[in-house]
Amino acid sequence: MSTTLKVVPAKPKRSLENRLNDLPWKEWLLFQKSFFHLSDDAALYGNLIQFFTKRQAATGSVSRVLTICVGDEHPAIAAHGRSLFRDCVSPDDIASWRYGQTDFTPFDFMVVDLRHSATAIADHAANSPDLLCGFFENCKNVLRDGGFCVLLSQEVASQAGRYPLPWMLSSLARRSFKMRDEKIGLLSEETAAPTYLNVLQAIDEIGPIHEKAPSVHVSVPAVREQWVKPRPRPRSKKEILHPAKFPEELIRTFVTELTPEGGIVFDPMGGTGSSAVAALDTGRKAVLVELDETWAAIAASRISETCSETSGRWQVLSGDARHASALIPKAFQPIDYTVTSPPYWRILHNPGMHVSDEGQKARQAKGLRTTYSESDADLGNIASYGDFIDQLADIYECCADAMEPGRILTIVTKNVKHKRAQYPIAWDLVFKLCRDGGRFAYAGTTFWCQDDVGLKPFGMGCDWISNILHNYCLHLRVR
Ligand SMILES: C[S@@+](CC[C@H](N)C(=O)[O-])C[C@H]1O[C@@H](n2cnc3c(N)ncnc32)[C@H](O)[C@@H]1O
Repeated sequence: MSTTLKVVPAKPKRSLENRLNDLPWKEWLLFQKSFFHLSDDAALYGNLIQFFTKRQAATGSVSRVLTICVGDEHPAIAAHGRSLFRDCVSPDDIASWRYGQTDFTPFDFMVVDLRHSATAIADHAANSPDLLCGFFENCKNVLRDGGFCVLLSQEVASQAGRYPLPWMLSSLARRSFKMRDEKIGLLSEETAAPTYLNVLQAIDEIGPIHEKAPSVHVSVPAVREQWVKPRPRPRSKKEILHPAKFPEELIRTFVTELTPEGGIVFDPMGGTGSSAVAALDTGRKAVLVELDETWAAIAASRISETCSETSGRWQVLSGDARHASALIPKAFQPIDYTVTSPPYWRILHNPGMHVSDEGQKARQAKGLRTTYSESDADLGNIASYGDFIDQLADIYECCADAMEPGRILTIVTKNVKHKRAQYPIAWDLVFKLCRDGGRFAYAGTTFWCQDDVGLKPFGMGCDWISNILHNYCLHLRVR
């Protein structure tokens, strides 16, 4: 396996029959980490095939794997009328691609590698999404029921910015497949675009879909690094009281790059005040809004330990981020940089979830709070995913009112899973905020990869459920 792991995984308590693959439990666990270092494609393909198939399929025959590698140079995409996006997939069509088998017995697993034709595919995604939808439908039709399909793709860089092709493809593929999960493969160079592995499953109940193909306005990237692995210091007693803070080490780099010396940093959901501590540490000013008074008090106390000076360098405001621009005192406007992390929808209500270095059950056992608050105004308590995205997007649009065009908002979030479907908070926020007529343009993502969190054996032996340990730091530019 090409994954690195610093934390030794816990051995499952009892031995389970492994219905998904033939891997020993330790290798299964390593694969569950949602980011890995991508050494070479042979290892990547090998790992995927070993994870998503048993040598012998349920039918008793050898598992059948289809790999489709679409290249710009490939005749299937170059020749008019004989592109990959034909109305139906016949064995003859499949025979003209790079694949393993020629007859039409459904495949057990499929890899669709779109990395080598990204520009052409991006053009289809933007201008003729129905062609791609047809292609994904065809892919589903050659897979057995319940079979997995992994889509490999990357963002497409141009002078205008980075076009988030993997998100677009997933959104289109969701009309045929259930979107189950994602992994990202990192190259050793932090500035190189990661490879996305979108894991789709051929089942009828497909989960949430977009009615219309999304579009995204892009702008030049805000920062060069596409992934970082900060080494956070252990959390203090005060900080541990809060269920999910981000490390100052992560935010400090963004603040330094994206805020002028002496500039003003804002966080509309300030929690324990990490953004403000990072801002003040680096010679900036800070203003926070936080709904819950306990967290607001912790934030104020942490900030005053960093900055004894109270005169106008920082302010913590208790209140609802929905009214953020009205709450911020005039002395703290305009905002130079906004950095924030919202609740990851209802993730804290899931008792099996681990959002930091400890699980929810461990927190309960220590008498620590497992949710942010019980308030109806808390975005972490909204029942409907659609309402959550809409209300969050409204808050960020309101933040744009206090910023000048060209300034950056960084949102730290994660795509989450709920009832075996993936809910792509990060992508849906960008689709909403960077749409035609939206207040922002997409200025790239920096992945915050958490190497300091132990792996949990979710779904072990029967299903694919990753440990999502990569967070999206979405950089959005005010238009
Ligand atoms: C992920 S935490 C932020 C943690 C923070 N970045 C830190 O490092 O401490 C999300 C925060 O949003 C707050 N929150 C939820 N709904 C809110 C709202 N409507 N207005 C303001 N804050 C809200 C929660 O109380 C929680 O502290």
